[in-house]
This record gives sequence, C-alpha cells and structure tokens, in this order.
Amino acid sequence: MNTHDHRKLFSPVQIGPITLGHRVVMAPLTRSRSQQPGDIPNDLMRECYTQRASEGGFIVTEATNISITGRGWLGAPGMYSDQQVEGWKKITAAVRAKFATVSRLDQTAPYEQKFHLDRPSKPGFSKHMVS
Ligand SMILES: Cc1cc2nc3c(=O)[nH]c(=O)nc-3n(C[C@H](O)[C@H](O)[C@H](O)COP(=O)(O)O)c2cc1C
Repeated sequence: MNTHDHRKLFSPVQIGPITLGHRVVMAPLTRSRSQQPGDIPNDLMRECYTQRASEGGFIVTEATNISITGRGWLGAPGMYSDQQVEGWKKITAAVRAKFATVSRLDQTAPYEQKFHLDRPSKPGFSKHMVS
C-alpha cells in the first residue's frame, strides 16, 4: 500500500445517508456467544463490539436470526424477542457512547445482518428457546 492509498483508507466516505470517518469497516463475524437459552445479545457481545468501535467507523453485526424457525446453529443472537431487542439496544448504546464526543455520533451505528436459514435450519433448536 503506498502513501496515497493509506491516506484514502483513513479519509471520510459517504455511503448513502451515512458519512463514515474512515473506510475500515468491521465485517460480520459470527461468534456464537449469545446468552442461552434465548439467543440473547449479552455483555460479552457488548464488550466485543465496543472494543471494535472507532470514531466514524462502521460495524456490521454478526448474522442474526429473524425467527425462531430460521436458526442454523446454537449461539447466534436473535432479533425477534423483546429480550433480544433489549440486548441489542445495550450494544448499540455502548458503541454510540464511545463516540459521545464525536459529531457524527448519530450516523455511526452497528448495522445488523439479519438471516433466516430457511430449509437447512434446525427445528430442534427451538426447544432451547424461552418464550
Ligand atoms: C469467525 C468468522 C465468522 C463469520 N461470520 C459471518 C457472518 O456472521 N456473516 C457473514 O456474512 N460473514 C461472516 N463471516 C465472513 C466474514 O465476514 C468474511 O470472512 C469477511 O468479510 C472477509 O471476507 P473474505 O473472507 O472474503 O476475505 C465470518 C468469518 C469468520 C472468519
């Protein structure tokens, strides 16, 4: 990477409505760390995302179940129960709090990768869920 490329990597970029302070984006990375039972985003996940948050940065969350019937493996977080939504809210708030002194605060958020595994999903996983 030459000096010019290096400067570009750390320069702002506009992606649709979002202005990023730099171009180092966190890719979706499944960690299978959600609280069980319930696939609830927890403190360990919050710590992980907060550690990787940076000023003007962009985070895509790990694959997140949109339905109990679409789960593909144990440990992936969900986004279809109230507890899961509350868990994600804490993570989002923690990431944003890290940028509390940054003017682009309201434009910097983890973007969630939602998924439904469809036919390969394992219905048997449902028994691990809380209602
Ligand atoms: C441990 C691990 C977990 C991953 N989890 C996801 C995921 O949840 N969703 C997804 O789309 N990609 C996932 N990926 C793929 C990464 O996002 C991908 O490796 C990254 O974007 C870099 O792209 P490359 O492997 O083609 O270089 C995962 C990769 C690894 C190594």
